[in-house]
Amino acid sequence: MSEPPRSYAQRWESYWSEVTKKGTRVMWDVAKEDGVALDWPNIQPFVDPSLPMVHLGCGHGRQTAFFGDHFERVLGVDISPTAIARAERENPHERVEYRVLDAMDHEAIAALHDELGDANVYVRGVLHQLAPDDQLPFLEPTLQLIGDRGTLCVLELRRGAEQIFFPLVKMGLLSFLRPVLDNGIKPLGITPKRFRELVPDTHEVVSSRPTVLMRLPLPLPLPFKVPAWHMAVRKLAPTVQ
Ligand SMILES: C[S@@+](CC[C@H](N)C(=O)[O-])C[C@H]1O[C@@H](n2cnc3c(N)ncnc32)[C@H](O)[C@@H]1O
Repeated sequence: MSEPPRSYAQRWESYWSEVTKKGTRVMWDVAKEDGVALDWPNIQPFVDPSLPMVHLGCGHGRQTAFFGDHFERVLGVDISPTAIARAERENPHERVEYRVLDAMDHEAIAALHDELGDANVYVRGVLHQLAPDDQLPFLEPTLQLIGDRGTLCVLELRRGAEQIFFPLVKMGLLSFLRPVLDNGIKPLGITPKRFRELVPDTHEVVSSRPTVLMRLPLPLPLPFKVPAWHMAVRKLAPTVQ
């Protein structure tokens, strides 16, 4: 008998508790210089720094804390309580707050927008592991959160990049990917074409470019740069009649 399907919340909480209990390295746990700082030149020209920054799916907050140096108010939210407990413990910052929140919970996102007003939103490595039918239900509330003035910046694994991972797992160089796969999380990658299909015509993609998700420290002659796409989205200004 096959295992009953588990929700994203169960898969991610199971992943975070397993790696936390066993002390396993988190696959995407890199220093900010090898992570979000590489993406910052893609983000900065498109965001209003006077608005809050919400990192949706912030994990244990290693990349979120970086935004504390660039925005007055930063909120890191994640579906996993264990990830949020780690973020509070391991990556505190005076301007950063962490909370448990499911980005696909439309009511919770509406309440967050009531609280913060329009916000910038950063999504990093979340969309690409959602089943295609779940990508729009994830994106819609996110666009509600940016409102008229915010910008959504997305950094996602490039489609096909996941194929590079599997030989590295076989070579024993990426053993820390195992708990991701064992907990039913599938790195699928995303294409800019697919992303554009998800964006409603009330919004526009203001930036789309190939970039690097992170530099992974592996025992290889050259640093392993994980290929990604950066995309930024804003609401279109209403046309004057
Ligand atoms: C690949 S990790 C990336 C973490 C972080 N963005 C980073 O780059 O370090 C994806 C994160 O998204 C979270 N996540 C997945 N689905 C979510 C949802 N619906 N709402 C909030 N967080 C979610 C997971 O718990 C996990 O921490």
